[in-house]
Amino acid sequence: DQPLRVLGAKADVLIGTAVDMNALATDTTYRERVRTDFSAVTAENVMKWAELEPTRGQYNWGPADQLVAEARRNGQQIHGHTLLWHSQLPTWLTDGVASGDIDSAELTEIVRNHIRTVVGHFKGKVRAWDVVNEAFTDGSAPVLRDTIFKQHLGDDYIAKALRWAHEADPRAKLFLNDYAIDNVNAKSTAYFELAKTLKAQRVPLHGQGFQGHLDLQYPLPIDAHENLARFDRLGLETAFTEVDVRYFLPGDTYKTAGQVGSFNVLLQACLLTPKCVMFTVWGFTDKYSWVPGFFEGQGEATPLDANFQPKPAYRGLQQTL
Ligand code: XIL
Repeated sequence: DQPLRVLGAKADVLIGTAVDMNALATDTTYRERVRTDFSAVTAENVMKWAELEPTRGQYNWGPADQLVAEARRNGQQIHGHTLLWHSQLPTWLTDGVASGDIDSAELTEIVRNHIRTVVGHFKGKVRAWDVVNEAFTDGSAPVLRDTIFKQHLGDDYIAKALRWAHEADPRAKLFLNDYAIDNVNAKSTAYFELAKTLKAQRVPLHGQGFQGHLDLQYPLPIDAHENLARFDRLGLETAFTEVDVRYFLPGDTYKTAGQVGSFNVLLQACLLTPKCVMFTVWGFTDKYSWVPGFFEGQGEATPLDANFQPKPAYRGLQQTL
């Protein structure tokens, strides 16, 4: 019965979790579990733009710095999440762009400055950055999402963001990250094609993140390994960055068993992929999980129950590692 981070070290894969900074500050059991079970951490929210710069020009580094300090004390890697995302943007930014107060030239400057400031602040401390999060649309013909970044910086905003991030910390690994790309499908293929294009243009892209938010009512991504392998062959690192497995409550033994299998398919895909560097869960206890708040009627999506007791999903991860 060894902690996940110990088993992960033997398999040469970081085992990570998203960290809720309120829980870390108030719940000692939570804090202790983060320390003992994980070798990597991702800020669940505090490194997002709205949290870092709620008022224009005034950065609130406190919570993110606390996470970084805690991780360094614990000997944990830090996965930076996230520089550009259409969600959780500060209202001064979205309102400014919507009203026309901020034009394309100014937005370009703001974005460049944000990336330079944030990556520079954590230079040498953050192993890897999710430079752009959720850039593609869903469905059978994914295209770049019509965000303020695409609208005002152009279709090459991802290449620009990667170059700016690389300038600010040349040693940080730069990732793109998205959901519903765990198996081979139109959206993951859009990322694969983008990665090939960026590589051909010598844009600094080092990794592809697969969120891994699974839902038991959809088919298991049984070809996740085949999917990761094609990115691996391009020379990219890969990682599962936000794994959880939700289902409609109440749970039963079938759902519990299905959840074990779902976690394991993703973990095995990572273990089978040479440059898969990290398997991160988006919360490790049902006591603090975003799932019930975002998916009505669903929950129990993490490996530990609300009392921090290991569920079969946790035992499954131990066995597979
Ligand atoms: C979620 C957090 O878990 C919530 O606390 C927050 O209210 C909304 O964002 N994909 C991502 C994460 O990349 O940043 C999201 O995190 C979950 C989906």
